[in-house]
Amino acid sequence: MGIRFLKFIIIILLQLFFSSFLYGTDIITSSQNLSDGRTLVSSDGSFELGFFSPGNSGKSRYLGIWYKNIPVQNVVWVANRCNPINDSSGVLMINNTGNLVLLNQSGSVIWASNSKKEAQNPEVQLLDSGNLVLQDRIDGNPATPLWQSFDYPTDSWLPGMKFGWDLSTGLNRRLSAWNSPDDPCPGDLTYGIELYNLPDLVMRKGSRKYFRTGNWKGGVANQFFTPNSIANEQEIYLIYHTKSKSVITRLVLNQTTGGARRIIWNEEARTWTVYSQFPSDDCDNYGTCGAYGNCVNTEIPPCQCLKGFKQKSQELNSVDWSQGCVRNNPLDCQKGDGFKKFGGLKLPDAEHSWVNESMDLDDCRDKCLENCSCTAYTILDIKEDRGCVIWFADLIDLKLFPPAAQDLYIRMSVADSDHEETKSNNKLKAALIIAAAILVVVSVVVITYYIRRSNRSIEEREIDRSNARQNEDLELPFFEFVFKNEVALIAKLQHRNLVKLLGCCIQGEEKMLIYEYMPNKSLDYFIFDDTRRNLLDWSRRFHIICGIARGLLYLHQDSRLRIIHRDIKASNVLLDNEMNPKISDFGLARTFGEQSDGKTNRVVGTYGYMAPEYAINGQFSIKSDVFSFGILLLEIISGKRNRGFYHLSDNINLIGHAWRLWKEGHPLELIDSFGKESCTLSEVLRCIHIGLLCVQQHSKDRPSMSSVVVMLSSETELVQPKEPSFLSNEKFPEINPLFTKPESSSTNEHSFSVLEPR
Ligand SMILES: *[C@@H]1O[C@H](CO)[C@@H](O)[C@H](O)[C@H]1NC(C)=O
Ligand SMILES: *[C@@H]1O[C@H](CO)[C@@H](O)[C@H](O)[C@H]1NC(C)=O
Repeated sequence: MGIRFLKFIIIILLQLFFSSFLYGTDIITSSQNLSDGRTLVSSDGSFELGFFSPGNSGKSRYLGIWYKNIPVQNVVWVANRCNPINDSSGVLMINNTGNLVLLNQSGSVIWASNSKKEAQNPEVQLLDSGNLVLQDRIDGNPATPLWQSFDYPTDSWLPGMKFGWDLSTGLNRRLSAWNSPDDPCPGDLTYGIELYNLPDLVMRKGSRKYFRTGNWKGGVANQFFTPNSIANEQEIYLIYHTKSKSVITRLVLNQTTGGARRIIWNEEARTWTVYSQFPSDDCDNYGTCGAYGNCVNTEIPPCQCLKGFKQKSQELNSVDWSQGCVRNNPLDCQKGDGFKKFGGLKLPDAEHSWVNESMDLDDCRDKCLENCSCTAYTILDIKEDRGCVIWFADLIDLKLFPPAAQDLYIRMSVADSDHEETKSNNKLKAALIIAAAILVVVSVVVITYYIRRSNRSIEEREIDRSNARQNEDLELPFFEFVFKNEVALIAKLQHRNLVKLLGCCIQGEEKMLIYEYMPNKSLDYFIFDDTRRNLLDWSRRFHIICGIARGLLYLHQDSRLRIIHRDIKASNVLLDNEMNPKISDFGLARTFGEQSDGKTNRVVGTYGYMAPEYAINGQFSIKSDVFSFGILLLEIISGKRNRGFYHLSDNINLIGHAWRLWKEGHPLELIDSFGKESCTLSEVLRCIHIGLLCVQQHSKDRPSMSSVVVMLSSETELVQPKEPSFLSNEKFPEINPLFTKPESSSTNEHSFSVLEPR
């Protein structure tokens, strides 16, 4: 028994010895202190507290906390931010009132924790979260913190740290940037939750509002961390926790870049990668488009008036949007106004708002109508479908913001408002429907009668028209059959992301289409070339991806003709002088009208981009274009051709490789050498995710281009992709009977050559 006990004691002592040998200690008691040169290390070795001199600040010494296990010093908290010690005489200790104090050589207090409560047995401990806590140890156990560094954040928001308000004490935990990399004293950039009736997450430069998040509760779980929001009588705050201990991440505010970044430590590359940043585009700048102006990032110019509004500035095409927009038809509160529903908007500045947590949407509407200065209303809690928010001022800082699942009801004149379904007018509506039905029946009878009577004359007119059409055709005598499809189609298409056809000519055997000049050739010229690929950084690539998606969406859905392209690939995406993508080559395109799929015996397209159902059964649909788009997306990210990609270890193509990395949990290895530093991690991850959704085996699983466009521009959570097709090159043998026996009759060399990647 005695020996066992001794062994036990020895083991404990050894452990203590080694842990202090490895990490030092994580606690200072009232009888100890920490002088410059010594450090406190959290028990698992994640964080270290000590004295440091940032950047080129010379001899200035600050007390701070940094990551212990990251090579470059990254300070996440500073005590004496504006009050450095000019030599290495600084000492941290607990004074006789139980407060944590930082003293200089002459013993004067440089910084103190200013806890109000008295402590009997105070100690200070650096926790594994990076939180420095001053606590009273009662009966051997630490009691609730008397003070903690997490309550006084500097420029960094760490996992587990509350970001927001303790309402009972008035404590506001918000971030303030360092003045410069050499000076931890606060600059003028701050970021925090502002307590209006509807709380708002606001970044300010000095006193000026600079950026709003729009929905303070926002943020969805991702593979790195889970965010959460808490709002009750005592507290309003945001918090997040990492999904595993190995994830090192923080949100950091930066005066130099003028914004905030969420960064994640990449252990492999031993660098920080940017996961997201904001403001991220011009539309994020507070109030860019003025009152009732809607900022649409993808439009040029980005400012648009909401429907029912016009630009206030009288000058035509004025670029001055500070005055915003005014109503086409003025309100008339006395006679009565209505509302128009707007979806997909970032909620406007909530400074002048009113909130009720129990009202339903109908009550909310009535409440707004009652008060002539009410401009808009919406539901408070969309998850619970309850509560009411009302705005009392001009609506500012609107942005097209697809993740916003919330509708905003804006007060409008009766002429501009929606016809609403409220309880009171349901009866009226029923009566109207009956009346309308009767009207329709009567009109059908009358019209049928007249059509019968005038049938003969219509036939005559029809003949006239077809004659006219033939004459029109004769005005284009140089169209040979092989070119006609493309010319006829493309001439009718107009979109920023489609190439413009200027004309065509035929001389002898030579047949030629004349497109607008694209000085930068095509996408494959860049992404697959070892040197030129460096010209396309991530933001350009993302811009190109979004452009192609919009071009395809236009073809599938918005154009007058509704078109399946059937040959989407890198060489068919041309780039103008500003690197805007333009889809070209409509030689294989088919219009589909209402019927959105078809079948062909002649499979044409490009090997490596073809959807399985098309390659094997000749079935094409808008979803086979989506498949090709998915391949293209993965190619843009990886810089590798789907076909011709061979992973060293086994025989899989690019999709197979992407899928495996995804399954194994390191999708970012797919990124091309164009620079992981330059990219926004969250965007790349999203694109890989979307790419995999597009190449799923079954066409019904693949998203439509309209969902792709929304997914690209939003932060909503995406469904997990199912296994894609063609995991192995072997599954798709090169000698495919469908390719060796193409229908030869009307072979268009232009389209068939594409069986080989160009
Ligand atoms: C702020 O941004 C500048 C410039 O990109 C960078 O040098 C500096 O390290 C950043 N500071 C922090 C605290 O991230
Ligand atoms: C309308 O609401 C504003 C803001 O809450 C308030 O100041 C004003 O008194 C209200 N007007 C009426 C008529 O209720």
